[in-house]
Amino acid sequence: MAEQILENIYWIGSDNPEGRDFHGISSPRGGSYNSYLITDEKTAIIDGANMPFLDAYKASISQVANPSAIDYIIINHAEPDHTGGIVEILKDSPRAKLVCTEKCKDFMLAQYDIEAEFITVGNEDTLSLGKYTLSFHPDPFVHWPETMMTFVQEPKVLFSADLFGTEVGHEALFADQMKPFADLSRTYFTLIMRPFAAAVKKAVTTARKLGPEYIAPSHGPVYRKNVAGIMDYYDKMIASPEEGKKVLVVYYSIWHASEQTAKMIESELKARGFEPVLCNLATANMVEIMSQSLTSKAVIMGSLTFAGSYHPLYETLFALLKLNGQKNKPAGVFCSYGWAPVAAKKLKEKATETGFDVKVELASRFRAATTEQVSSFVEELMVGL
Ligand code: FEO
Repeated sequence: MAEQILENIYWIGSDNPEGRDFHGISSPRGGSYNSYLITDEKTAIIDGANMPFLDAYKASISQVANPSAIDYIIINHAEPDHTGGIVEILKDSPRAKLVCTEKCKDFMLAQYDIEAEFITVGNEDTLSLGKYTLSFHPDPFVHWPETMMTFVQEPKVLFSADLFGTEVGHEALFADQMKPFADLSRTYFTLIMRPFAAAVKKAVTTARKLGPEYIAPSHGPVYRKNVAGIMDYYDKMIASPEEGKKVLVVYYSIWHASEQTAKMIESELKARGFEPVLCNLATANMVEIMSQSLTSKAVIMGSLTFAGSYHPLYETLFALLKLNGQKNKPAGVFCSYGWAPVAAKKLKEKATETGFDVKVELASRFRAATTEQVSSFVEELMVGL
């Protein structure tokens, strides 16, 4: 159902409270695909609909506008979670013109059979709706190459597309009405934004210069009041995402020796005043581990020895960790083994190739490491941190 943000500006998005996965991100509180409607002398939709939610979406439009009177559909981003319903929407809004970047037009025509007229826009181009004027701010690679932000100059609302989003259900319209959701913003940022950190940094600078009083992303709640907070958070997550004394400890174990070593390392870290986060690679969400790595001061990875190496699930994890783009993060590796202590050596090689600075290595035969081994492992890794 449509909800009013400001005079003549409405949220008409889709709620997906049962969704539990988004691009591999675990979404325990569901997801949302935001869209907005401005009713002025001209009527404009900003961002569109994800196909599975089309019926509810159309109903929301009809609550506040006559669909056949829609003048413009602003496409900030061509990914199907925001455009999947476009052909059906255009059937109800046949006179609507699609407003987007040239690259976005290319992506839209490649994905959909669209006969509607396009208006392509470049940096700081404007479009008057009557009382409100929109300006357009392409920010390529803030998630895809065609992305842009749209700004309503008065009353300073920034429609930021994926930027500043969170994969969380539509529990409330505004961020300040939500239960805490920072952990969900962190995992969303890690996978959707962090791989494009340079482009995201530029986009945050653009957003800041525009001086928005509202930020309305295409996922998650709308920010008002403390809009600087989410921009500051992005700056931090790009420049220095490490949080406090957090240390990530990942392990894969079958017969519990590596698991026991991981738990001993966890205890040793706690005893030394660090904040370990223990993740079992067999059961934890990979993007969550990736996100915990991004925000940890150091990362410890352990595995049993499996077919002459570490467990192959680590290959997926290393591919994700590489997307964090961090260089020289301190790391330690450990393994358990029966007849050849190779997993730790292979973990060290792969972690180094991924960008970690592996400072310490530990192997224990059949059983967990000894207390002395664990103590010196942690000592050596964490000195100075
Ligand atoms: Fe929400 Fe990149 O789409």
